[in-house]
Amino acid sequence: MVTPEDAIAAVHDTFGAHPGYRALHAKGFLYSGQFTATPEAAGLSRAAHFDGNAVPALIRFSNGSGDPEAADSRPTVRGMAVKLTLPDGSTTDISAQTARLFVANSPDGFVEFVRAAKPSAASGYRFAKFAARNPEVFRGLRQNAVAAKIPAGYSTVEYHALHAFRFVNAAGESRYVRYHWIPVDGEEFVSLLAARSKPRDFLTEEFDSRLARGPVRFKLQTQLAGPDDSSVDPSAPWSSDERVDLGTLEITGIETERERDGEVIVFDPMNVTDGIEPSDDPVLHFRSKAYSISVGLRIKGA
Ligand code: HEM
Repeated sequence: MVTPEDAIAAVHDTFGAHPGYRALHAKGFLYSGQFTATPEAAGLSRAAHFDGNAVPALIRFSNGSGDPEAADSRPTVRGMAVKLTLPDGSTTDISAQTARLFVANSPDGFVEFVRAAKPSAASGYRFAKFAARNPEVFRGLRQNAVAAKIPAGYSTVEYHALHAFRFVNAAGESRYVRYHWIPVDGEEFVSLLAARSKPRDFLTEEFDSRLARGPVRFKLQTQLAGPDDSSVDPSAPWSSDERVDLGTLEITGIETERERDGEVIVFDPMNVTDGIEPSDDPVLHFRSKAYSISVGLRIKGA
């Protein structure tokens, strides 16, 4: 079994260690806004942010790479992390990315994938070995093709939280769900060739110029698990596509005052609240520990 320390070491070996930056999703930008739930949300979960009143939101869009200088034209997953502040002052996070399914069903599989991604003469062999040992990657190839495409901007692509969470409503009834952020502007991609002629940070530049024209909105949708859908395997497709609109995130401004003067912000998928419970997905639980190590290194500037 790999440890969270092994995971960070593998990430640093593949992408380099960049003091003060997140080990993965190193390049990212913060925005502010608010989330307002639909009336249907409260029927599924008693979480405070689903009561219909708007709550403040902090949003970070990012490139998946561990290299803070990576050009946006490089095919990779993109991240959308959202922190909602609840009326009692506590927070809850939703961490999502553009892949529709995770590449592996275990932390070991993910670390093998990261090691294979290190550019070297052996990477072809390493990918073949990874795929042979983690055949679940093939199930997601068709659905994940979208993650290899280059979005026109951070506001023109869907983001998926991948893990299952257990929603519990006021009556104590529960359902396993997966989250999806759906851009109200619709999806739009650019060719690799077109992306290469754009500025290094074009995803952010596109987003900022879109924001200058008015709020950017994403719908939060939840997919409800069917009886045969796995709550513990983020690489497994679900047969049920029963979806409920939970609410709308409205992004209104660029956040210029956060993560300055030593402030460290972490978006932790295990940071849930009453009415939302983590599933037993081992990748979900592992992430939290790996993020803590990355945060510790960020604080030390290491
Ligand atoms: C074993 C699996 C995984 C490992 C080891 C891992 C590792 C990491 C690490 C070390 C960071 C930087 C954390 C920080 O310094 O705050 C990070 C960031 C991130 N990861 Fe993962 N990750 C995993 C799976 C996932 C999955 C399944 C998703 C999508 C649902 C995801 C989405 C993100 C996002 C969006 C960020 C950026 C958060 C931010 O903007 O602060 N990761 N990951």
